[in-house]
Amino acid sequence: MELPRVLVVDDEPGVRESLRLILKDRTEIAVVSSGEDALDAVAARAFDVVLLDILMPGMDGLELLERMRANGPAPQVIMLTATKTVKTAVRAMKLGAFDYVTKPFDIDELIVLVERAAQSAALLREVTALRQEVGHRYSFDNIIGRSAPMQSVLNTVSRVAPLRTTVLLTGESGTGKEVIAKAIHYNSPRASAPLVAINCAAIPDNLLESELFGHERGAFTDAHARKLGHFESAHRGTIFLDEIGEMNPGTQAKLLRVLEQGTFTRVGGSQPVTVDVRVIAATNRDLDKSMQDGSFRPDLYFRLNVVAIHLPPLRERREDLPLLIRHFLKTKSDQIGSHAKTFDRDAVDCLLRYHWPGNVRELENVVERALALSLDSELTLNDLPPALCLIQPSAPVRALAHPNEGSVASLSAAVEQLEHMLIMDALVQADHNQTRAAELLGTTRRILKYKMDKLGIADSDNSEMV
Ligand SMILES: Nc1ncnc2c1ncn2[C@@H]1O[C@H](COP(=O)(O)OP(=O)(O)OP(=O)(O)O)[C@@H](O)[C@H]1O
Ligand SMILES: [Mg+2]
Repeated sequence: MELPRVLVVDDEPGVRESLRLILKDRTEIAVVSSGEDALDAVAARAFDVVLLDILMPGMDGLELLERMRANGPAPQVIMLTATKTVKTAVRAMKLGAFDYVTKPFDIDELIVLVERAAQSAALLREVTALRQEVGHRYSFDNIIGRSAPMQSVLNTVSRVAPLRTTVLLTGESGTGKEVIAKAIHYNSPRASAPLVAINCAAIPDNLLESELFGHERGAFTDAHARKLGHFESAHRGTIFLDEIGEMNPGTQAKLLRVLEQGTFTRVGGSQPVTVDVRVIAATNRDLDKSMQDGSFRPDLYFRLNVVAIHLPPLRERREDLPLLIRHFLKTKSDQIGSHAKTFDRDAVDCLLRYHWPGNVRELENVVERALALSLDSELTLNDLPPALCLIQPSAPVRALAHPNEGSVASLSAAVEQLEHMLIMDALVQADHNQTRAAELLGTTRRILKYKMDKLGIADSDNSEMV
């Protein structure tokens, strides 16, 4: 295991030396004699623990502590104090120091303290790294959408994310409402505070209010103790109210008050609680209808609808399909630990033609299923759910989509081939009646005949026989 990195800051050479002796076998230790040198040292290297003297000429321990804290939570700081400065050490803990030790040191106590501080620093680093990772997952790079409607969505998102504005997300199931809610939070100044997501449809009506706003002890039969609600847990962060259309009228009234005044009362309580929470709501219901039938309050609707973002269904932004397929092939194979794979031509055609009623979620599941089931590096129609491919791509469309493959060498050749196939299809359908075939193709018999001659289609005409 890697040794914790410790920095000692003390102006007395004797203290520096004795700490070095105590800690040199169990830590990677560096020593400096002033606050200024300490700032240089922590800027140059990531330390886990800083042992910091309080009284030093120049910058003292408290000032240094504040300057280090301004750059974030790590490293953990243990104050070194003489008995007469214990009060200052206690003040230092309020400023964020991990703990303090009084000189002369009890060696065992010191060692235990340094180990605990190092563990805590490692945890802090892990949490910071995880937050960054989650934040990255919801960065704009990972939201796929080059189509005009998605570009306009992302444009609005990047403009509202830094503000405190309430946002209402609408769109069919699986279109990415939650992804957008997360992107707004993680690209806002609230990113390091909590994002609390609640699905209003998943919580029974009678519990939703206390889940959101908490309750006082004795508020109802099972309320044995005070419980904080999600609004309080989300303080300084964002609350995501999913399926807001399912919220009951009583809770709607309370939500309206939070949006208007930033305060609420816990269930069974009378004291107003003040919170600083940004609200993002989402629904796949038509709230206009809910307002008409009286199940959704218009005043709440207008409060939520400050900025409305509509996620278009996937079938209305088909140009995003190839990008999404590539994105999920990459991310899902990383996630499930399979090799990089691609879809073959027929499978891609099938994916591009399907109407995707379940939107991006359905596509994501289809790609993941294919990756998980197939042993080959090329995924085929056999790896797709059968229902997806009921409409098979026709040969001419394939030829057009891939003019450089097979016998088709150029666009004009592909067009000729397509014409040839359409004319043959029409002739067969019309039972070789060229007048009817021309009607099917939306042209005249004369033009059809001209094309047939040009393409070398010899066909005996049945028109006269009808
Ligand atoms: N533009 C996008 N780029 C990448 N992934 C996306 C995109 N949109 C949606 N997804 C993925 O699709 C899945 C469904 O998205 P999400 O959960 O946000 O949909 P939703 O609109 O909230 O659906 P529901 O109404 O059913 O809750 C998620 O796994 C998400 O990661
Ligand atoms: Mg959702």
